[in-house]
Amino acid sequence: MPTSSSHSPTPHANGASAPLWKLLQGTASVVAAVRSGRSMTALLDAQPPALRPGVQALSYQVMRWWGRAQALRAQLARKAPPPAADALLCTALALCWDESLAPYSAFTLVDQTVHAARQHKDTRAQAHFINACLRRFLRERDALIDLTDADPVAQWNHPLWWIQQLQHDHPDHWSAILTASQSPAPMTLRVNQNQSTVADYLAQLQAVGLSGHAVGEFGIELRQAVPVSQLPGFAQGVVSVQDAAAQWAAPLLLQGLDRQAPLRILDACAAPGGKTGHLLEICPFAQVVALDVDPARCERVQHNLDRLQVQAQVMAADAARPESWWDGSLFDAILLDAPCTASGIGRRHPDVRWLRRESDVGQLAAIQARLLKTLWGLLQPGGHLVYCTCSIFLEEGHQQIQTFLQHNTDAVFLPSPGHLRPQNSRMSPSVQDNQAGEHDGFYYARLQKRL
Ligand SMILES: C[S@@+](CC[C@H](N)C(=O)[O-])C[C@H]1O[C@@H](n2cnc3c(N)ncnc32)[C@H](O)[C@@H]1O
Repeated sequence: MPTSSSHSPTPHANGASAPLWKLLQGTASVVAAVRSGRSMTALLDAQPPALRPGVQALSYQVMRWWGRAQALRAQLARKAPPPAADALLCTALALCWDESLAPYSAFTLVDQTVHAARQHKDTRAQAHFINACLRRFLRERDALIDLTDADPVAQWNHPLWWIQQLQHDHPDHWSAILTASQSPAPMTLRVNQNQSTVADYLAQLQAVGLSGHAVGEFGIELRQAVPVSQLPGFAQGVVSVQDAAAQWAAPLLLQGLDRQAPLRILDACAAPGGKTGHLLEICPFAQVVALDVDPARCERVQHNLDRLQVQAQVMAADAARPESWWDGSLFDAILLDAPCTASGIGRRHPDVRWLRRESDVGQLAAIQARLLKTLWGLLQPGGHLVYCTCSIFLEEGHQQIQTFLQHNTDAVFLPSPGHLRPQNSRMSPSVQDNQAGEHDGFYYARLQKRL
């Protein structure tokens, strides 16, 4: 068995210039910060460029297997070591508990983890303890894993309240949803119909050695994720990166409306502008007001619209307070892509499940209800409103809309997709499930205001 000292040559992550122990240190600092409530996206953006790709790949994997890692650590040591050491120990366990998923051999990971512990003042005093725990794990792996199997958090790698919520909301599909949330999501593109077609763009991809297949009306699922700089015409707006389920929003809103007319459209929660751009691509004469309460995120909307060479009135404002931004003219169509728990996009953001609290669901549902009620008042009689969330919890989807319909008798529920479960699972029966490809979990409801 190798010892815990560093060896020569030091293992490097595939294609990365940084040694593995540094990546493990960076990953442990990211997961420790997530544990204290910070979002992983911002933490990864703040990593030094040389470490970022490697730390990102490891952090995603650690967050996916965080439930198992914590349960194993509890078997190895009832009392957790100080936070920095615990984060490093759990990082190693998350990466090596299942060798079929491990990016490196378990021995390399253990060796490099202990080396990482020795290099930092916050973990140096626990290096011996970490070494002892990980060596024991290697010796007793199967028995320790068996002991954690009875714990649903270890088995499903989601908080218990989340698992129970899905069991309640999706009694026939909860385990498939949780399983789907563990695999990485594909990179899906939306082809700008003003500049190309799906068939043409597939040919352009092939010409630069990339491949994919068509999904839905506008989409291409890439065989392998690549930096956007490698996508032909990306800077000119020929394609955007957008999940296949998110690509449903714009066509659902415009269904039954005249796309050649100068429709007044409100995109009430627009940032970073993925759906705003799509609306303008397929409804070129629309007058779109794109709101978001976050000014910094509004800049991202403008940046995205500039790249697509389309225009909207972008405003940083609270959609729930129209007196601060509305000019008094009713809208023909409103898209409310409401703030939510993001429970449907766990494949792309495996930290979210650990960041959310059970009480967030009710609090977000109350915000959604307020936005829905306020925006309904800004819709023209005969106009359409699409309500959507990237959540699979009923309280943020089906229940929200049922309550709204009970209180608003001037609302007609149009044929609507309802909940789309993540991955390649079937959608609700009211929707054609043709070639939809892999997609995130979403909820969509289409409403029309009676004339
Ligand atoms: C799900 S994201 C929208 C994604 C966007 N529609 C897209 O497709 O790119 C929700 C957005 O709602 C914004 N938001 C939250 N509360 C809001 C409010 N009261 N008024 C306007 N925007 C709000 C958030 O800042 C966030 O950008």
